[in-house]
Amino acid sequence: MALMVFLNRVQFGEGALAELPAELALAGILRPLVVTDPGVVAAGLLDRLLAVLPAGMAHAVFAATPPNPTERAVRSATQAFRAHRADGVIGLGGGSPLDLAKAVALAATHPSEALAPYAVVEGGLSRITGAAVPVVAVPTTAGTGSEVSRGALIVLDDGRKVSIGSPYLIPRAAVCDPSLTLGLPPRLTAATGMDAIAHCIETFCAPRENPVADAIALDGLRRGWRALPDAVADGANRAARAAMMLASVEGALAFQKGLGAVHALSHALGALPVSPHHGTLNAVLLPHVLRFNAPAIAALVPRLADAMEIADASVEALAQAIGTRNAAIGLPSGLAAMGIESAQLPAAAAAAMRDHHHLTNPRRATEDDYLRLLRDAHPGQGA
Ligand SMILES: [Fe+2]
Repeated sequence: MALMVFLNRVQFGEGALAELPAELALAGILRPLVVTDPGVVAAGLLDRLLAVLPAGMAHAVFAATPPNPTERAVRSATQAFRAHRADGVIGLGGGSPLDLAKAVALAATHPSEALAPYAVVEGGLSRITGAAVPVVAVPTTAGTGSEVSRGALIVLDDGRKVSIGSPYLIPRAAVCDPSLTLGLPPRLTAATGMDAIAHCIETFCAPRENPVADAIALDGLRRGWRALPDAVADGANRAARAAMMLASVEGALAFQKGLGAVHALSHALGALPVSPHHGTLNAVLLPHVLRFNAPAIAALVPRLADAMEIADASVEALAQAIGTRNAAIGLPSGLAAMGIESAQLPAAAAAAMRDHHHLTNPRRATEDDYLRLLRDAHPGQGA
């Protein structure tokens, strides 16, 4: 048996931002709260969005989304939502503002003040209802795919980084205009792009039956793997920017099938105080997880290698190609270079065991497996 669902309206292409008013009208949003972050504002993208809102539309802005969105930030943004008497949320930015937008749509309309009861791992799926107000997502990075996904990653007050997910949190529309990513710096282009590529690879390897998702994942992988170096080398390369934005959408359309150990571990590490970037973590972890998964994914490797145009269809060749690619696009070679200390690895291994993506890794991992894997990914500190 397979459950296959494809998902929301996606306005895609150069100039798609002009479709925002029509999408707001379809979603029934008359008084939006725009959720974004300081980097997006500084890049002039909030101004571009506000310029296309219908004349006279009463809007409010919450621009203080932190790099990894917190429950505290959700409270602040929800206050802004209520003060404005908003009826919907526009998420503008990378994964963090989009996730925060979804969390506000939930928090403003559901009974629990605390967010923990809504976490997937706490059985939150059944507590999230259609009372959630509509969200329209406008991504300004290409990687997270949050614009078409049901999930929001939030760091709770107790320090856990959890996924809150429900079909009711899928944005009503994604307005995907690649021109919004033209100014994204090379390092962020690289990191977010590798998040998209990790989605495609991990969900393709997840042990659930969903051949449609597999096909989308392979298409996204082919597109993203080919375009990412060009997007990093020349941010103004519009064809590469569009390819990356589509790979991002495809990765997230496909990952309803499940992710795996890369994301279980990156969620655990993403809750650390140094707030490491999600995509960078995934890029660093991906070769190590592929090697760990090798016994379980042998039959899948030829199709991955084909999509990545790698002649040697072996796990080791894929892992090495990803490591080489990471270096070529300016990403760090290991966790130590990201400011993560070896003493923090055991707790991360334990936390990964509690992440819901742990359950869809193709090879069942133990806490010891995760710790070994993290130490392999943490060269240079003798761990
Ligand atoms: Fe991700």
